[in-house]
Amino acid sequence: MTQKPETYDAIVLGAGAAGLFYAGQAGAMGLSVQVLDHSGKPAEKIRISGGGRCNFTNLGTKASNFLSRNPHFAKSALARYTPSDFLALMERHGLSWQEKTLGQLFCDQKSGAIIQMLLDEMKAMGAVLKLGIEIIAVRHTDSVFHLDTSQGPVKAQRLIVATGGLSIPKIGASSFAYDLARHFGHEVITPEPALVPLTFEGQIKEQFASLSGVATQVVARAGEGRFEEAMLFTHRGLSGPSILQISSYWSAGEEISIDLFAGRSGAEALKALKRDMPMKSLTKALEAVLPKRLTEHLAGTGLLPDWPRLADVSHADLEALATTLSDWRLKPSGTEGWRTAEVTRGGVDTDGLSSKTMESRKVPGLYFIGECVDVTGWLGGYNFQWAWASAYAAAQASFESQF
Ligand code: FDA
Repeated sequence: MTQKPETYDAIVLGAGAAGLFYAGQAGAMGLSVQVLDHSGKPAEKIRISGGGRCNFTNLGTKASNFLSRNPHFAKSALARYTPSDFLALMERHGLSWQEKTLGQLFCDQKSGAIIQMLLDEMKAMGAVLKLGIEIIAVRHTDSVFHLDTSQGPVKAQRLIVATGGLSIPKIGASSFAYDLARHFGHEVITPEPALVPLTFEGQIKEQFASLSGVATQVVARAGEGRFEEAMLFTHRGLSGPSILQISSYWSAGEEISIDLFAGRSGAEALKALKRDMPMKSLTKALEAVLPKRLTEHLAGTGLLPDWPRLADVSHADLEALATTLSDWRLKPSGTEGWRTAEVTRGGVDTDGLSSKTMESRKVPGLYFIGECVDVTGWLGGYNFQWAWASAYAAAQASFESQF
């Protein structure tokens, strides 16, 4: 006997940050919602985020903190659901937070508390969550979405795709959103790993490996990206916040630039060393500014001239060296890839979506929210804020489309 499909106002695919948040919001407006996920546990990325404390938003969130082929796309949704709105929700659930650097907010009660809050919200609003379920086929006929799943058929007037990007496949990431988008005639901008360590090959890889664990404040640049934050040497290359940030702007084959004076005047810094330590060698004196192991490495690779006494060095030579050290050019061989990337850049092309509602311009009732959309935030809580804001926009639109 054919199983009769369960019927909902909205089916959400993906029980991650965006999908769970949508379910709570749409449920609160009276829509019947079912959330389906192929994983056995919901929102695993929230659980592992922010070192287990979930950097759930950034107080300074603006559209310019995101990469997208259309830099204006995120503006409307971000304006209508702000970090303060999410803080109000957390307060209602008795959760508190700490601000770390640069407006980044972390949950005092850890990531699990945020997941529980999202689950409590959606359940209180009557939404249903089904885990460990495979989506076998999706059809859109007579303005209704029909889904075949491993647990039988289900149908709804609205389909909300919130299956995220490709990073960290071992906790359930899949290309589902991109495949479905293409199936319904959408363009997909090539997904690539972002917020990811950069790797090097050959001699330079070995040299960096010997510096593994050394960290220093820099200004790192790639393409249009420029970030003043820490850089960390690793066994495979470079990491740390400044490198993760520029990885989103880096393309294979390009050079990156590192300012070892972290935005300060290198010439002034070197002249001050000459004034304060005239009898010291350049390598020794630089240890006042840079980690010792790094200065030794720079000397070993010939980047630092062999100046035994700074007193003997002309200001012109110091200025030339400052130029070199504030624009240290390196050519990464690649990135650590999907295994460690925090996010995916690229995704469902925003040209095919309404920026106000996240609804498809091609298929009424089909929505894409969260990371699967070509909107990629910087490191620092922006990606979760996008998940909340895009889900909120879609939930509002789902409610309004009932009338
Ligand atoms: P998300 O990935 O959260 O959810 C997608 C869901 O869809 C998953 O539950 C998955 O199982 C499910 N799914 C996938 N394919 C499916 C299929 N075929 N069928 C059914 N279900 C399917 N951001 C931030 O702002 N602050 C932070 O601190 C961090 N930290 C962080 C650390 C690490 C290690 C990572 C990997 C990522 C972060 N991020 C972050 C990024 C953040 O986690 C990410 O941007 C959001 O979780 C995206 O939310 P979504 O709901 O779009 O996807």
